[in-house]
Amino acid sequence: MLRETEEGDLPALYEHQRDPEAARMAAFTPRDLPAFLHHWRTRILGDPRVRARTIVVDERIAGFVSSWTQGEARLIAYWVAREHWGRGVATAALAEFVERVDPMRPLDAFVATSNHGSVRVLEKCGFGLVAGSAETGPDGVEEVRYRLGSP
Ligand SMILES: CC(C)(COP(=O)(O)OP(=O)(O)OC[C@H]1O[C@@H](n2cnc3c(N)ncnc32)[C@H](O)[C@@H]1OP(=O)(O)O)[C@@H](O)C(=O)NCCC(=O)NCCS
Repeated sequence: MLRETEEGDLPALYEHQRDPEAARMAAFTPRDLPAFLHHWRTRILGDPRVRARTIVVDERIAGFVSSWTQGEARLIAYWVAREHWGRGVATAALAEFVERVDPMRPLDAFVATSNHGSVRVLEKCGFGLVAGSAETGPDGVEEVRYRLGSP
């Protein structure tokens, strides 16, 4: 269900991240179109160290999974469009990504404590809560780190 993300996917991915309910869940401030395109073109598609995969369901763009290196850590992020929620899409996409796309370990994800769906997706894919990782940002949102693989 994953294929390499292409320039032509960006309009759909832009719409997904603008969904207010999804953005609230992820505690993410949506980017406007110029900022979104700049970020994806330069930081993601333009960087060979970043792996980005588009989730395809019934031949439609349903979201993405990506991984990148930040400091010492290899991080992942994912997003599923609301019309596909609750059908195992994120779990299947993340499972495929960690098995076939990015072999690096550990792989880490930051998730808002209140994002129960995302926490469940991570747990189902074998990620475990990093003890003592809870931190509340300036926006008042508490986030925790989940990790696949040791240490
Ligand atoms: C969070 C998100 C990825 C879940 O995607 P999804 O495709 O609906 O997830 P799945 O169908 O694979 O569900 C996996 C598990 O999470 C549970 N779940 C999904 N959404 C949930 C929610 N809103 N509340 C509680 N549990 C939820 C499912 O019941 C399932 O658990 P189960 O197998 O024990 O029943 C999706 O809602 C999303 O992309 N949200 C916006 C962006 C975001 O939050 N990204 C992650 C940032 S860390």
